[in-house]
Amino acid sequence: MPQTQATNDAPIGIFDSGVGGLSVLRHVQQQLPHEDLIYFADSGYAPYGDKTEQAIITRALAIADFLIQQGCKALVVACNTATAAAIHLLRERYPDMPIVGVEPGLKPAAAASKTRVIGVLATDRTIASEKFQALHDQLIASTGVQFLTQACTGLADQIEKGELTSPATQALIQQYLSPLADNKADTLVLGCTHYPFVQGLIKQAAQAAGMSLVTVIDTGEPVARQLARLLQQNGIANKARANGHLLAYTTGDPAALRAAFEKLLTLHPPIEKIAV
Ligand code: DGL
Repeated sequence: MPQTQATNDAPIGIFDSGVGGLSVLRHVQQQLPHEDLIYFADSGYAPYGDKTEQAIITRALAIADFLIQQGCKALVVACNTATAAAIHLLRERYPDMPIVGVEPGLKPAAAASKTRVIGVLATDRTIASEKFQALHDQLIASTGVQFLTQACTGLADQIEKGELTSPATQALIQQYLSPLADNKADTLVLGCTHYPFVQGLIKQAAQAAGMSLVTVIDTGEPVARQLARLLQQNGIANKARANGHLLAYTTGDPAALRAAFEKLLTLHPPIEKIAV
């Protein structure tokens, strides 16, 4: 696959199964305000969490090819599920392209927990992935902490629908937190980029369930930092002084993505529907 020569003013491509990656995009915008960004929401194929690994790989490769055709100089896989399934294949296909993925923050959680019991909220597919299991097993062996993995089936869907505070979303969160509270977890890892948008509800539910919550770990900020580092290392950071432009594509409903940008980030980028 031929790669276009990266230039400093080329855009950065960021993608997710839907609106979850906006929780990463906000940190990228904060840390790299001069960069042009292209956000790709694969909402026509969301959620990824209940798909096969092969289906996610096919989507990730198609989206990466599209973003690179748009001239992107770097990619952010702003989705834990797609990172676990496909990042090694993306790096193989585009060996010269800086590619940053998102992984559940098990390591910072192990360092933060006092009870040594950590709840990990993620999609079924992320938890089942080899990449997650390898990190999980390695950290148990090296730190002796206990990870309680909780697949949050349906939660990304609720967020995708814009139901950030509905009774149905609250009930799902209560259901998923209850076993973690019973087992004395004091740290929660948000292992899906959709979940930071219901962080308030998660904290409330944790308190109501009697959890003495020490920390909630979201990896958006360190991911943006890693991206900034890679742009510097490769000499491709944008040197412009003006703020960068943002534009978005979706395989789903542009009106829904427009509403999500408004509601979640108060942003109004141009949005185009695309079949990829
Ligand atoms: N936001 C995604 C993640 O970080 C996936 C959610 C989904 O589509 O199931 O895992």
